[in-house]
Amino acid sequence: MTDVAARDAQAAATGRASARPSRSWTEIGTEIGDRVYTFSIAGFASLVPILLLLIFIVVGLGAWPALRAFGISFLTTSDWDPVANHFGGAAALYGTIVSSVLALVVATPLAIGVAVFLSEFAPAWLRQPIGFAVDLLAAVPSVIYGLWGIYVLIPFLRGFIVPLIRDTLHLGVLPIFSGPAYGASMMAAGLILAIMCLPYISAVTREVLLAVPRSQREAALALGATRWEVIRDAVIPYARSGIIGGIMLGLGRALGETMAVTMLIGNRHEIAASLFAPGYTMASVIANATLHGEPLTMFDAFGYYLIIATAGHDTTSFSMTGGLQALIEHPDELERLRKDPSLVATAADEIIRWVSPVRHFLRNVAEPAEIAGQRFEVGDRLLLSYWSANRDESVFDDPFRFDAGRKPNRHLAFGFGAHYCLGAVLAKMEIRALFAELIPRLKWIEPAGPPELSRSIFVGGHKHLPIRYELV
Ligand code: HEM
Repeated sequence: MTDVAARDAQAAATGRASARPSRSWTEIGTEIGDRVYTFSIAGFASLVPILLLLIFIVVGLGAWPALRAFGISFLTTSDWDPVANHFGGAAALYGTIVSSVLALVVATPLAIGVAVFLSEFAPAWLRQPIGFAVDLLAAVPSVIYGLWGIYVLIPFLRGFIVPLIRDTLHLGVLPIFSGPAYGASMMAAGLILAIMCLPYISAVTREVLLAVPRSQREAALALGATRWEVIRDAVIPYARSGIIGGIMLGLGRALGETMAVTMLIGNRHEIAASLFAPGYTMASVIANATLHGEPLTMFDAFGYYLIIATAGHDTTSFSMTGGLQALIEHPDELERLRKDPSLVATAADEIIRWVSPVRHFLRNVAEPAEIAGQRFEVGDRLLLSYWSANRDESVFDDPFRFDAGRKPNRHLAFGFGAHYCLGAVLAKMEIRALFAELIPRLKWIEPAGPPELSRSIFVGGHKHLPIRYELV
């Protein structure tokens, strides 16, 4: 009999209630500890749905401007035309879902196979090196996967897998294997994702299979099951929820992957049933382009390649240096940006308007027209002055003032119409990224000499902008 029970029994025998509590302090402490533990883990567990809800709210708020501007059709159309301001996300959604499902379809059986081999069959000395090699796949950066995909996977698909599916198995009649196979495609993206999510699924599955009690296997063996039946009927069902957890982790990896997929999927805003659908890259658009039914001449094609390779260099660097000078010359605007970093988006547009690094473009008049009372005849040559357009008093309030919060800012620095700058979104992103990082760290900044401008009347800006500064 314990001390406490003996004391209680004695108290009952003498008819007196015990003056001291019937349980020891150790027991009370243990019970309080248990309760605190139960409440805290219940609290942690309930954090999960709360976090999920918060994620939905944050994603919903982030998506709201797009949904408000384009309505629900943003999710149902795949028209992506920045010039006409039409944006539809259906193709991107479709691509994300199909490439991720394809990845899981390929990766799951492979990953489970690897895990079963490692946990059930592999000798102990082989288990660790193979497990380590599979886990190592998770540590390879996605850009390496992307490059490997371009140089190894795509030629392999084109040279072996596509002929196998089409010519040997004659599956080209199925819509998912129809059409030409150029290289970058949904299939390439799905396969690279499969390789990327395989280590996640396999690592989790291996651990849960190893956690299945030995008695489970021995019981099945005792009933006369073969090794395969033990795994199929006793081990895998026992570990099912853990394996599903691993697959979900793999799905998360596949859904969230950007770099490798961008390099291999082709980035064409169209929904195609075929997994070989030609993934158009900018370079392949140029290579396959026709004008009046004829392929582009070598000269035109090179002209386009050249502009793609060069258009984003001087334009963005001139905007950044010009923007920095504007901020040095307008310390009040710099201070405004420092106090309200959310203004960096409007500031980037204002910087581009202010600098207008592309000074002008020339156009040949193709049809007679009249603009603002001015008559234009076929063959006339026009100089479009972006500098002038971006200081137009009839469009901008106080156009000669640098206003980091200017809204609306209908500048024409990226051009207008069919030739609207292809890199406009990227250019704004680069400028925003620079100033968002720089301004909070800038203690002070001042000119350290006269700036030097490039000697170009086409694309121009600062060649040198000497400055002195101190970072916080
Ligand atoms: C602040 C930075 C930039 C400015 C101000 C700018 C401005 C322009 C302008 C004015 C045009 C000509 C529009 C026309 O002919 O009507 C143009 C075209 C073009 N830009 Fe940009 N650009 C910038 C950055 C970039 C970047 C970063 C890239 C690429 C990464 C890029 C790629 C192109 C291409 C490919 C075209 C030709 C589009 C066509 O002819 O269809 N630009 N840009």
